[in-house]
Amino acid sequence: MAGFTAVMLLSELRPGRMRAVMLGEREILLCRTGDGVFALDNICTHAHARMCEGRLRSTRLVCPLHGASFDVRDGHVLAPPAVSALRTYAVRIVDGTIEVAIERDPAAQEMRPASPDGRAGPT
Ligand code: FES
Repeated sequence: MAGFTAVMLLSELRPGRMRAVMLGEREILLCRTGDGVFALDNICTHAHARMCEGRLRSTRLVCPLHGASFDVRDGHVLAPPAVSALRTYAVRIVDGTIEVAIERDPAAQEMRPASPDGRAGPT
C-alpha cells in the first residue's frame, strides 16, 4: 500500500483553486474542483511549464505556455499540443487534511480521488 503524506489543510485550498506543493523531490499540483481534490504532476508533459501558472476551469487544467489542457481527474489530454497524460496521484482527506500518495502501486492506481467531505469521489 502506498504511503500517504499530509500536504495541507483542506481549508487552505478553496474550491476552484489549485496550489503547487513539494513532496520530496517532486512538485505536485493540488486542484480542488466540484468533483473533489486531485493531485497531478505540476510540470506539463509537452515542455517545461509549471501547470500551477495556468488556469483551472472546473476539471480542465490549461497549460500556461502553449495551451494544452488536461482532465485533472485522471490526467488525460483534452487538447493538444501535449499528447501524454499528466501523472496523477491518490488523494484522501483525513480530519480536514489533504494527504497524497506519491508512490506508484496497484492499490494507489485504483483509489478514487477524495471529495472535500472525505468520501470517495463519484464513479
Ligand atoms: S508546455 Fe504545456 S502545452 Fe507546451
